[in-house]
Amino acid sequence: MINKYTRIFKTISLTVTLAISLITNGADNSTDNISIVPKPYEITTLKTSPFKLTKKTRICYSSMTAKAPAELLAQYLNLSTVSYPSLKSSSKRVKNLILLTNKVKTKNLGKEGYELTVSPNKITIAAPQIAGLIYGVQTMRQLVPVQALISNTKKHSFLPIPAVKIVDKPHYPWRGMMLDVSRYFFKKEFILKYIDIMAMHKMNVLHWHLVDDAGWRIEIKKYPKLTKVGAFRGKGDQRYGGFYTQAEIKEIVKYAAKRNVQIMPEIELPAHVLSAIVSYPNLCCTGKQMEMPVKHFISKDIYCVGKESTWIFLKNVLSEVCKLFPFEYIHIGGDEAKYNRWKKCPDCQKKMKELGLKSEHQLQGWITCRVEDFLQKKGKKIIGWDEILGTGISNKAGIMTWHRANTAAKGAKRGNKVVMSLTSNAYFDTPESSHPDEPPAATWIPPISLKKAYSWDPLPKGLNGDAVKNILGASGCIWADQFLFHPNELADKKGEGTKRSEQYVEYLSLPRMAALAEVTWTPESERNWDDFSRRMNTMFTRYSIAGYNFRMPMPKLKIKRNSDGSFDVTATTSIIGATIHYTTDGSLPTPASKELKGTVRVQNINMLRVRAVSFDKKVMSLATTNEIDVPRKLRKYGKIIGQWKRGELAEKNEKEFIFDATGKINKNGKYTITFVYTRGKSGINIFGVEVIKNGRSVVAKDIHTGSTGKKSRGNKYEVSINDYETGASFKIRARLSCEIGNNSNGFVFIK
Ligand code: ACM
Ligand code: ZN
Repeated sequence: MINKYTRIFKTISLTVTLAISLITNGADNSTDNISIVPKPYEITTLKTSPFKLTKKTRICYSSMTAKAPAELLAQYLNLSTVSYPSLKSSSKRVKNLILLTNKVKTKNLGKEGYELTVSPNKITIAAPQIAGLIYGVQTMRQLVPVQALISNTKKHSFLPIPAVKIVDKPHYPWRGMMLDVSRYFFKKEFILKYIDIMAMHKMNVLHWHLVDDAGWRIEIKKYPKLTKVGAFRGKGDQRYGGFYTQAEIKEIVKYAAKRNVQIMPEIELPAHVLSAIVSYPNLCCTGKQMEMPVKHFISKDIYCVGKESTWIFLKNVLSEVCKLFPFEYIHIGGDEAKYNRWKKCPDCQKKMKELGLKSEHQLQGWITCRVEDFLQKKGKKIIGWDEILGTGISNKAGIMTWHRANTAAKGAKRGNKVVMSLTSNAYFDTPESSHPDEPPAATWIPPISLKKAYSWDPLPKGLNGDAVKNILGASGCIWADQFLFHPNELADKKGEGTKRSEQYVEYLSLPRMAALAEVTWTPESERNWDDFSRRMNTMFTRYSIAGYNFRMPMPKLKIKRNSDGSFDVTATTSIIGATIHYTTDGSLPTPASKELKGTVRVQNINMLRVRAVSFDKKVMSLATTNEIDVPRKLRKYGKIIGQWKRGELAEKNEKEFIFDATGKINKNGKYTITFVYTRGKSGINIFGVEVIKNGRSVVAKDIHTGSTGKKSRGNKYEVSINDYETGASFKIRARLSCEIGNNSNGFVFIK
């Protein structure tokens, strides 16, 4: 959290020359050396000399509203001299002062805006409300020069804070992140850390996905089995789980409020609730006792809303939830409800008849509205995934759009408030790239690079007039299904602490949270990818200083071929303090590998691997690698799912191959898998393909014998997918052999 940051600050050690260069830079009237993320509304450099931050700098606050933000700043900067009252007496005489005040000069700063002015003897952070003061504090943190923090060669006595005037306020009021703690349980300490990470980026809503099929994570006093049973899964030494007590939740909510982060609980209904149903089987239509799932799937068993006893349960649960969370919205889920059970349930069918409902979809609408009415009486609004739009909810309900921007537009025009969480730009449980060394991450949708996350305007196209105001902002999603798909790689091992799982979440979140922060804080017209990239070079180092894991960009390579067949390679990274390391034997470089400075000559370019390493040697980028390069003329066959190479197949000896089509199979329908020979002495025979869903069941197949070589025959395989579900993995199993010898090369495509 802040510890490492302050530890470094404590030893204020800075070279004299560095201080001088920073002073000069501070006065050159350009903001090129200032790296604040998200980008402030207005930033002006002043001609005066920098403020000198020392161990003796005093932090004063001029009203009780400013006390907590002042203490937060003191913690960030590791200063102990916080005092009040300041204005009348002491602060005027203090020579080296940071003052937090509610007296502002700028109008229309809104709820979260602030001003920050750095003059030689005084820094003033002013905001009409506490949220603005907290954000002024976050910006102040980012004005401390990173170069100075990481340089510990010579001792020095102060840190120069550049002379600037900042006027800042957010574009969107909702700047959120969702964390799925159901599929994987993260301890309270990590939730606090995650709130700190959000606060650093001026994100203000933590959407806490507390309920899903694979785990119920919130203590409900009236229903103890929800956590006694529904919070744990697996047997024997595989037993795993956990939950947050109400006392812990109160602590988390309070901690978050101090950082201007509101916590929105998600209490899923009517689907994604197997954990509740396993705890209390009468909550589902069949009443059957089921087991907690240890594999990922979306349960067809959902709440039986035909039974009044389920309604009493929901009311009791929601009443306890309302008392724990002061935020105005309760997220009620609403996504991906399958109606198989409702269709056969006498209670649900009776209820539909009674209410004159024509479809199960309308039954979902009815229960959603019933919940909305109930929560409205408690002073709360509901928000739900975009499936709830069109179920009869009022225009007071919030919509969280994950499917399509035009659904959001529809909601906003209807008067509903909308938060954008599109899978295409905000599902950060996808990897940033398709690099083979990315850790396991969601593949049912394409990767979301930092640039893609940044180049997003959450405002749906064509929306105008008053409806624009109904787009509240955006929220990034960190789903944790991958922990169920890849427990061996991702889940923590007993005795090894929680590092692995938590570092994984940080890796997925950072730096894309920074992109989303700017997408929501800074108006689209003021955003610029190159400028953001420049500022991120400092931000990455701030992550290291704060002890956060992150996905570090790979160095940029320049390769020149020499006449003797060797290559001259130059690699660069702009990340402050980072170094570049390489190997020439194909192995993965470590911080102990040779450093690449300037240019190196290598003989075999295919064996060169290069990666960037953070200043403290703890975080490394992925290593450069040779990716599959598909010839342009073959792209008509669709997306590549694999290849075979010389030596991998034997003559007339069938061998099983598994190709990953997850994400390429992305809805129900017909798919064609094509095998295409490209070179080598032999063609291949193909003995059929099978599609395996979620590593378990064969859901489609086409078994016939085909071949591909200089001539191809029957090399296309057709399969139909009828039971697609979000997040599902799809593998293609094929049996192949060479016609003669073992020298064949080719690609496998899906369309
Ligand atoms: C969702 O991804 N099921 C909202
Ligand atoms: Zn039912």
